[in-house]
Amino acid sequence: MGLFKGRMRWDSRLVFILAAVGSAIGLGNVWRFPYLTYEFGGGAFLIPYLIALFVLGIPLLILEFGLGQKFQKGAIGSFKAIDKRLGSIGFIAVAAGFIVITYYAVVMAWSLVYLLGSFQDPLPWSSGSSEFFFGNVLQITDSVGDFGSVSVGLIIALLVVWVSIFFCVFKGVRSVGKVVLITMPLPALLLLILLVRALTLEGAMQGISFYVTPDFNALLDPEVWLAAATQIFFTLSVAFGIMIAYASYNKKHQSITKSAFIVALINSGFSLIAGFVVFGVLGHMAAVQNVPIDEVVKSGPSLAFVVFPEAISLLPLASFFSVLFFLMLFTLGIDSAFSLVEAVNTVVSDKFRKMAAHVVAFIVCVAGFVAGLIFAAGSGLYFLDIVDHFVTNYSLAIVGIMSCIAVGWMYGADNMREFINSVSEMKLGVWWNHAIRWVIPLSLGTLFLIQLYRDIITPYEGYPAWALSVGWLTVLIPLAIGIGMVVKAKN
Ligand code: TRP
Repeated sequence: MGLFKGRMRWDSRLVFILAAVGSAIGLGNVWRFPYLTYEFGGGAFLIPYLIALFVLGIPLLILEFGLGQKFQKGAIGSFKAIDKRLGSIGFIAVAAGFIVITYYAVVMAWSLVYLLGSFQDPLPWSSGSSEFFFGNVLQITDSVGDFGSVSVGLIIALLVVWVSIFFCVFKGVRSVGKVVLITMPLPALLLLILLVRALTLEGAMQGISFYVTPDFNALLDPEVWLAAATQIFFTLSVAFGIMIAYASYNKKHQSITKSAFIVALINSGFSLIAGFVVFGVLGHMAAVQNVPIDEVVKSGPSLAFVVFPEAISLLPLASFFSVLFFLMLFTLGIDSAFSLVEAVNTVVSDKFRKMAAHVVAFIVCVAGFVAGLIFAAGSGLYFLDIVDHFVTNYSLAIVGIMSCIAVGWMYGADNMREFINSVSEMKLGVWWNHAIRWVIPLSLGTLFLIQLYRDIITPYEGYPAWALSVGWLTVLIPLAIGIGMVVKAKN
């Protein structure tokens, strides 16, 4: 970004695309996507995932790019430009992003712990990757109520993560484009190397076929659709105010539609390849342990930190590869983490011109570190699971639906489409109007209600009510503030 008299600008469209891809591709692709796919039965998940990409993800990404670029403001300002009361949507979005980043940074901290461990010979997890992860890294307790001891190593790692994020924002705002030139090709290359290794493992094909064989019965389970939809939001960094902020630094006449397709397709391509790696390795583990593929490991947020390390310890030059792999995870994550701090910065500096960006960034980073401590405790993984469940299922759906209502109905889908088409070489058809006005709000609304019903009937994963209420609060507090903003804007 170069600093001009007016708004800051990306140096070129390419830099914008790289930054957007950098935000999109992150731990969500290598960590979250594979564990969801495994949890929901491999091929059973892929169809809803791809449908959600085209039906929800791409139209919403176009919407956010259009919104930010048209109004030249961050999430709150852009929605406000439509109607004063709508600034609340931007607030809820950015708040959701902030909550995500508090646990996202903890996952990056796990990566750092592994990165350091990679220098040891033999690798500290070579005698059991599962024990290493749960026992040594997390020091996990038996239940969410037992906070356990706080792992000092993890807290130091978390601090390092936040300091790095801060330095990226503090020093790197103008060099994001250059940073991404390194942090994009490197992980892609590493992933390809791992892909070759994974596919040549004994038993790999069993895992791959689990991954790609569709299970049409699963399509009747709303839970799968919900997980697919939320993963699409998470992975595209949509409904966090991030893409709106990034697009607001584009020149007003820059082409939009093709950029959105490029970002979305590169991002999902990355996930799909990561899936081949994970499932190749799962297939191998199934063969070695002589168990069915769906019983190899306990699914969940731990998958990438149990299966990937295991895979790497099978490679010749294991230490070398694991250094590269965890460096990859870290560099993948930092672009995404950084983008959220930018979303907050944008919103704040839209409102208070004089407030220096690094002061805002500092406050965000300190707050993020402190809030993230809960995920670094012995029961941290349980909280991570709970908060991730609530924020990604509810907050993102709320923001998605509200964005569609704001743009599709209040601003007018046709007005926005006209603007987008007036600057884009690739023309958006009227299908986009239907997607924004009907398909997305109705499908998200349905999924939202089903999820709500399920969460009320059966406590999520059997967690105790007090723990689940932490999850509810992460949704309800920002929502209440948002409603307060609507009321205040009326008067
Ligand atoms: N898109 C990123 C990924 O897939 C993650 C992400 C989305 C994110 N929204 C965020 C990270 C908000 C931090 C804050 O990994």
